[in-house]
Order: sequence, then structure tokens, then C-alpha cells
Amino acid sequence: MFADPDGELRGTVTAESLQRVLDHYDAGDWRADRVLITGDLIQDDSAEAYARFRELLLPLNMRMHCVPGNHDIRELMRAVCRQPPFSYCAKEEIKDWLILGLDSCISGDAGGEISDDEFDRLEASISASKAKHILVCLHHPPVPMGSAWLDTVKLKNDEVFLAKLHESGRVRLLMFGHVHQEYEEDHDGILVVGTPSTCRQFKPGSEDFDVDDRPPAYRRITLHADGSINNDLIWVDD
Ligand SMILES: [Fe+2]
Repeated sequence: MFADPDGELRGTVTAESLQRVLDHYDAGDWRADRVLITGDLIQDDSAEAYARFRELLLPLNMRMHCVPGNHDIRELMRAVCRQPPFSYCAKEEIKDWLILGLDSCISGDAGGEISDDEFDRLEASISASKAKHILVCLHHPPVPMGSAWLDTVKLKNDEVFLAKLHESGRVRLLMFGHVHQEYEEDHDGILVVGTPSTCRQFKPGSEDFDVDDRPPAYRRITLHADGSINNDLIWVDD
């Protein structure tokens, strides 16, 4: 989002594009209990852009878990995303599942990293929880995307991070943003999922930065008591 309601990113009015996604959800009959928002909420470093984000999402009227991305300003984002119904890098148990949001950002760097403090919080949250299944979300991709420029701004300690998640034996789903394209692969029992943007997309497999012409998108995820997952990527075409 931008402070300006007509603010454009790569030729698209971002507020209109997000509204299209929300309208698509609204018009369908699939209903969610939670929203997971995987970062890069704003583009212009302004508090007004976060206010616009809040205003557009509030009608969903449910809890919304947010993690920061490299374009976010933590102080401004926390001011909005720590107020219910939003939450910031939250931990929530729902029946058999623990949902955990991590901060993977490094100030002044488009790439990411799980800091020692976040590793500590991850370990403490997992060991304190009796949930049988765990969903972790963060902004940066915890795996290479096979796109040269994008792989320079991925999660720097991705292998250590994935190994840590495997140690628990309970992490079933790992979700990220940042890459503006579809990704979905099983990594030894953890389903790793990247969701395209609610605005413009990046071209998969590109050597250099390149914008794709695919439409905005969102995912519908259903978490089952036995640890299984339904996962549908929804492209919002005109
Ligand atoms: Fe990002």
C-alpha cells in the first residue's frame, strides 16, 4: 500500500488490486477462520499506508496474523499489526495446530535471516506447545527459487532453518511471501509454499529482475486434525 490511495506499483494501483482479491474471496462460498499475511505490506515507508492496509482488511472481521517483509518498517507496522484483530509475529494454538509467525528481516537488506533471537523464540514456542502439527510463516523463501536475482535475496541461513524445523518432527507447513510467484514443494514431509502477490508478479526462473503478467492471487488453506492440508492457489483473473 501507499499513503496515496491511487499509488501504483509497476503500473498497478495496489489498493485496487488488493480490493479485487478481497472481493473475490467475498463472492465465493469458501470461508476462512484466519488470514496469514506474509509481509511487504507497504511500499512508501508511511504510517498512512499501514492505515490503508488496516482499513481494507478490517471488513474480513477475523484474526489476521502478519509477519514483516523487507519493505516494511517494523515500528510503523507493529503500531497497526499489534492491534486486534491483527497480530504481529504471533503464536496461536487452534485445536491440533500451532501457528507461528517469524521475523526474517535484516534492516537495510532485501535478503533475510532467522536471527538467534528468532531461533530461540521458535524453539521455545515449539517446546511449550502440545500441538500435534505446526504451521510456520515468514517473509523470505527458505529454499532456492531457481531465479538468479531472487536467490541473492532469499533467507541466508535457509538450510539451518529447515533442519531446525525438521528436528521438531511436527512442522507440516511452511509459508512465505517475497517471491511474487507460485511455489509449492514437499521437503521431507514439510510442505513449503510461496504465494504470489495480491499485486504484480515476478517471472519464475528469470536471471534478472522481470515482471510477469499473471494476475493477483491468494491461497485457501485448510488444516486438518490429522495433520493433512488442503491447499488451493487462487488466481484472481478479471
Ligand atoms: Fe520482500
